[in-house]
Amino acid sequence: MKLQIINGPNLNLLGTREKNIYGNQNFNEYFKNLKSNFKSIDLHYFQSNIEGELIDKIQQVGFDFDGIIINAAAYTHTSVGIGDAIRSISSPVIEVHISNTYSREEYRHKSFLSAHVKGIILGFGLKSYDLAISSFLD
Ligand code: DQA
Repeated sequence: MKLQIINGPNLNLLGTREKNIYGNQNFNEYFKNLKSNFKSIDLHYFQSNIEGELIDKIQQVGFDFDGIIINAAAYTHTSVGIGDAIRSISSPVIEVHISNTYSREEYRHKSFLSAHVKGIILGFGLKSYDLAISSFLD
């Protein structure tokens, strides 16, 4: 099984950025743990701060991979383009967030992705990604 994790803007700063919300761990380190916890899965990781690069990646893998796990970060709340990319592909997509966006500012309550994804996992810290991967194994 081939799965793609896609992280959006500022998630390259995990472990440094707003640790009270997003925790202490750097995603590259966490990704190594994921790889060793899910040895049977061919896991790929991509991060970009640029909206168009996220869309390019969705298009690139979205007809071939068994699934995409995406945290579009701030673009979740603004990007019609990422929502359109998700509805244009055939691979199932899980939307994840580290924090519970519904317990935060009102502008984080709107997602342009949610209507087009298979499921949403949020608020479990980095464990949200583990849960999303596990959902593909069921
Ligand atoms: C986030 C929540 C977004 O509102 C925020 O802009 C992020 C991270 C999360 O994982 O909790 O950058 O997607």
